Amino acid sequence: EEFIAVVPAAGIGSRMAADRPKQYLHIEGKTILEHTVDRLLDLPEITRVVIAISADDPYFSQLTLATDPRITVVNGGAERADSVFAGLAAINNDNAWVLVHDAARPCVRRADLRALITSAVNSDCGAILAAPVRDTMKRGHQQSAQAHISHTVERDNLWHALTPQMFRAGQLRQSLTTALAQGATITDEASALEFCGYTPLLVAGRSDNFKVTQPEDLALAAFYLQLLIK
Ligand code: CTP
Ligand code: MG
Repeated sequence: EEFIAVVPAAGIGSRMAADRPKQYLHIEGKTILEHTVDRLLDLPEITRVVIAISADDPYFSQLTLATDPRITVVNGGAERADSVFAGLAAINNDNAWVLVHDAARPCVRRADLRALITSAVNSDCGAILAAPVRDTMKRGHQQSAQAHISHTVERDNLWHALTPQMFRAGQLRQSLTTALAQGATITDEASALEFCGYTPLLVAGRSDNFKVTQPEDLALAAFYLQLLIK
């Protein structure tokens, strides 16, 4: 089997509101993107990483990653799904397993990657890392410019979708094509497969594999990365 990581890294990081896209902020001596790619290449079975970057990205070429023979760079698109699609276009083996992993999740652990790979290769159509929801969940509604509780959402069997999300390259490409052509809202890879009637597996992963999104997330990522790097 061939295992290829696809890393969407073409976002602008509007919620982080830093002087550059968040994947290029430095934590513990390296950019977030470099940490993320290092985590993936830490697994010997992952032999290649396809990174989707913005067409006018001035940062990537400065990194030592740019000359790593295991890395392929492609231009991403306007939405995350477009960037993933561009990454898939660089993979010609439809049978390859792709692990799509957000550039902004540098704290993913080897054990979770291994658990995902083991589950996915033994599944019908693939698997994603996910974390069971801990908090009581409320459905809200807006009323007089305030949010009111409408009701409590049953928490059993509710999960946070994380990444990596792992599918066969051809099946993911086909599902994204179908879902996007029919105007489905696609916020992760699994939703494209769901749209096409597949039922990917949920693999319980650690909640420290969170997506660095807002300024206060940087200190938390630094804390987890210190634990990981030793
Ligand atoms: N991403 C991408 N192409 C896009 C949008 C997002 O490759 N057009 C990537 C981001 O770089 C990130 C991942 O998808 O690694 C998850 O997206 P998100 O956390 O939303 O990042 P941004 O879109 O950059 O942040 P924001 O939504 O706050 O602007
Ligand atoms: Mg975004």
